[in-house]
Amino acid sequence: MRKIIVAIDGHSACGKSTTAKEVAKILGYFYVDSGAMYRAVTVYFLEHHVAITNPKEVNRALSKLKVSFKINPQGITETYLNGLNVERKIRKMKVSEWVSQVSAIKEVRDAMVEEQRRMGKKKGIVMDGRDIGSVVFPEAELKLFLTADLLVRAFRRQKELLERDELVDLDSVIENLRKRDEYDSSRKVSPLVKPKGAIVIDTTHVTIDEQVDEVVRLATGKIVQQP
Ligand code: CDP
Repeated sequence: MRKIIVAIDGHSACGKSTTAKEVAKILGYFYVDSGAMYRAVTVYFLEHHVAITNPKEVNRALSKLKVSFKINPQGITETYLNGLNVERKIRKMKVSEWVSQVSAIKEVRDAMVEEQRRMGKKKGIVMDGRDIGSVVFPEAELKLFLTADLLVRAFRRQKELLERDELVDLDSVIENLRKRDEYDSSRKVSPLVKPKGAIVIDTTHVTIDEQVDEVVRLATGKIVQQP
């Protein structure tokens, strides 16, 4: 059967990663969380005090870091930075506060996009992010754009943080999501947009299972379709 690329973009914390992960599992595809890559770069920049306004320093840092993914024994993909598992670290609020600034740097995007395209070369991939259907894989067979009500997203994100033992008040979560959406949508390089030909899914009143079923249905339709 032919393999396709599923590109999932959308606003912060609207269930892109959860959906993408499940869909990939069902289809037997590789899952790539492109946001995790920008988060890992942010961890490196924070830990090494990289001056993000200095392109020379940024390039030097980029040449020293390697972001990769490994599948753990439970079958879950985890993010590695220079060989170390940073899966928990990258989800911290501190990283969320800086990631949009780091991901807006052209040099950072060029490096990550190159890696993302390499991972998608053989297709059979589900990737989620902000510019997957618009920049990374404009030729993706299935493009989705997820969104949801800000308050609903904030409640979901607060719960996720709590599950990782990070207690953050709701107002701070709302403010972070709002700021990131604004920053990601208005930056010069690869802003968050609804890609041409993308199907919009509003997840405000939809459960994860329903969301996953819908995406699998759409993907299956594309897989059986003649190219
Ligand atoms: O999980 P959440 O929706 O909060 O964010 P994420 O997918 O982990 O992405 C974190 C940040 O990385 C976003 O706010 C963007 O600034 C950036 N990002 C990006 O610029 N391009 C992508 N393809 C993916 C993420």
